[in-house]
Amino acid sequence: MRAALVTGANKGIGFEITKQLGQRGFKVVIAGRNANRLEEAQASLYSQKIDAETLLMDVGNADSIKTAAQNFKALKLELDALVNNAAVLLKEDKSLLQDSENVWQRTIEVNAYGILRVIKAFLPFMKKPARIVNMSSSSGTMSEPLDGWAPAYGSSKTFLNMITRQLALELQKEKISVNAVCPGWVKTDMGGVGASRSIEKGAETPVWLATEAPFTLTGKFFRDRQVINW
Ligand SMILES: NC(=O)c1ccc[n+]([C@@H]2O[C@H](COP(=O)([O-])OP(=O)(O)OC[C@H]3O[C@@H](n4cnc5c(N)ncnc54)[C@H](OP(=O)(O)O)[C@@H]3O)[C@@H](O)[C@H]2O)c1
Repeated sequence: MRAALVTGANKGIGFEITKQLGQRGFKVVIAGRNANRLEEAQASLYSQKIDAETLLMDVGNADSIKTAAQNFKALKLELDALVNNAAVLLKEDKSLLQDSENVWQRTIEVNAYGILRVIKAFLPFMKKPARIVNMSSSSGTMSEPLDGWAPAYGSSKTFLNMITRQLALELQKEKISVNAVCPGWVKTDMGGVGASRSIEKGAETPVWLATEAPFTLTGKFFRDRQVINW
C-alpha cells in the first residue's frame, strides 16, 4: 500500500491533494494544527470513501513536530510521499522594515524552518525511493521583477526553494526526490475568490510530483508539470 503525509491538509490545496492521492489508492495522513478542523476534513474524506488518518502537527512549533513524529510511529506506515503544503500569508505582511519582527519571524518559522523540521522528523519513516514535494510560490523566485507584495511570504518561499535544492542534493543517495512547486494563483482562503485557478488545478502538479514524476527529477521548481526558473 502506498502512503502519503500532507501538511496543512484540512482545507484548500492541501485537502484537495489528499483527496486526489486517496482517489489514487494512497493511504493518506492529514496533518494540521487544529483537531476539530482535522476531524471535519477526515469526515469529508470518509464521505468520499477515502481512508484518512489525522495527525495533529503545528508546523510552526518544533515540539509539536517532534510529538507528531512520535505519534506517527503508531500508525506503522512507511511514506511514499511527503507533501509540505502548510504555509501562512499574514495580512500584516506589507514591509520587512516594520517595527515588529513578529510578521517575518512567524512567516519564516512556518514556511521555511517548519518544513525543514518536518522533513528531518519524518525522513526515518520514508521509503527509498520516495518523494518530497514542497509547496512554494512564484513570489519566491529570484528571476522575476518584484512588485512589493507580501515580502516576508516571498522571502520565506525563496528560503524554501534553497532548502529544496540543498536537500535534493543531500537525499539523492537515499533515492528521495525533493522538488518545489508553484500551484499558480488558486481560489482558496489564501488565494482569494478572485484567483484564476480552481483548487483541482492547483493540486494537479503537486499530486503528479508525489506520485508519478520520475525519481531522477529532483532539486527542481515546477508549475504545470514544467520546470520553471527559481
Ligand atoms: N492559493 C494560492 O494562490 C497559492 C499560490 C502560490 C502558492 N500557494 C501555496 O500553496 C499552499 C497551500 O495554500 P492554500 O492556498 O491552500 O492556503 P490555505 O487555504 O490558507 O490553507 C493553508 C493550510 O495550511 C495550514 N497551516 C497554516 N499554518 C499552519 C501551521 N503552523 N501548522 C499546520 N498547518 C498550518 C492551514 O491550517 P489552518 O486551517 O489551521 O489555518 C491550512 O490547512 C501553501 O504553501 C501556499 O503558500 C498558494
